[in-house]
Amino acid sequence: MTTLLINIKQLVQVRETNVSKISGADMKQLPILENAYVYLVDDKISSFGLMASIEIASADTIIDCTDKVVLPTWCDSHTHLVYAGNRAQEFVDRINGLSYEEISNRGGGILNSAKKLQETSEDALFEQSAKRLENVMRMGTGAIEIKSGYGLTTAAELKMLRVAKRLKEAYNFPVKTTFLGAHAVPANFKRNQEGYMDLVINEMLPKIAEENLAEYVDIFCEKGYFTLEDTERLLQAAQQYKLVPKIHVNQFNAFGGVALGVKYNALSVDHLEELNDEDITALQGSKTMPVALPSCSYFLSIPYTPARKIIDAGLPIALASDYNPGSTPSGNMNFVVSTACIKMKMTPEEAINAATINGAYAMGLSETHGSITKGKAANLIITKEIESFHVLPYAFGDNCIDKVLINGKVI
Ligand code: NIG
Ligand code: FE
Repeated sequence: MTTLLINIKQLVQVRETNVSKISGADMKQLPILENAYVYLVDDKISSFGLMASIEIASADTIIDCTDKVVLPTWCDSHTHLVYAGNRAQEFVDRINGLSYEEISNRGGGILNSAKKLQETSEDALFEQSAKRLENVMRMGTGAIEIKSGYGLTTAAELKMLRVAKRLKEAYNFPVKTTFLGAHAVPANFKRNQEGYMDLVINEMLPKIAEENLAEYVDIFCEKGYFTLEDTERLLQAAQQYKLVPKIHVNQFNAFGGVALGVKYNALSVDHLEELNDEDITALQGSKTMPVALPSCSYFLSIPYTPARKIIDAGLPIALASDYNPGSTPSGNMNFVVSTACIKMKMTPEEAINAATINGAYAMGLSETHGSITKGKAANLIITKEIESFHVLPYAFGDNCIDKVLINGKVI
């Protein structure tokens, strides 16, 4: 099947030769072609260029993109999209004055989601999660990472990851999975955190590796959750199963999690709302992608990740949604990109680089996703009629998307 997009006002994130990530001052450069075409063969980008030099005369489907912008779909490298129910009541409790920490100390928070998930069948969990996936696809997400971490028992963690795998197959969609058994200490291990880490390492990890359910390993390295020692133990153990770290660090406190992640060759370190100079130094010269989650900062009213400090230090940065029931009940990457511009002072060029190619890097997909490059997946956003790509973050809260193509097909 062939599809030809013609008269594209701006074709955004065009990379003739693939780059795996964009760092520092280069993030300000977002290559575009004006008045362009893209030619898709089956599920891949076959060619693109200026309308003035188009040589393709026909295709099975032709889409006229006059006055519209075309860009690669968002690459959301950090989500907890598989979960059960919601935590709207905690949202109201927070409005009424309780803090995120207080709610979690009362057995709410992650443990509340874990209880709900344990009581939900695999099929029901799949149905709930499939709706969320369809929703984010319509909002332009074309590749996603999904974590476990609301199971907190071996059976429930396996259930979550099986659901994530089923989503990948059912939708023929790029889903990367991460094992986050160490997300919170369950109530029955309250006075025995080490015992829970034993369970995660000695029982969950081997089963997940055996069933090939995850490529990445994660831990919530944070005061009141898991320590640096727990983190090091887990990352060390994960090495033998070839699970690469992508870890939650520095959400509320900075105490060395970033450097530890870098030491274990983490693909990404995520959150970073609190970030000090040692963290920046640790990231310099590493292959680890810092990932910011501005919707989480927005929803919890906590600081935003200091993107300017990160970029000005010559580092790359990726943007992701953190879609989850507690801190970010939204998987809308358009809002993420807008908020990064408005609150983190990223330019639209930087934010789009961060939400496409750098997001792809942060989940090991930059060979196949994240830019308009020959041979990459035909996963594209076609906007409504807008003046330029700047309008995407500028018109925050607006739906600027007309069509989304996944594997070369309009969804
Ligand atoms: O990334 N910080 C840890 N985990 C999630 C939120 C967990 C929850 O509240 O359910 C996050 O923000
Ligand atoms: Fe998260």
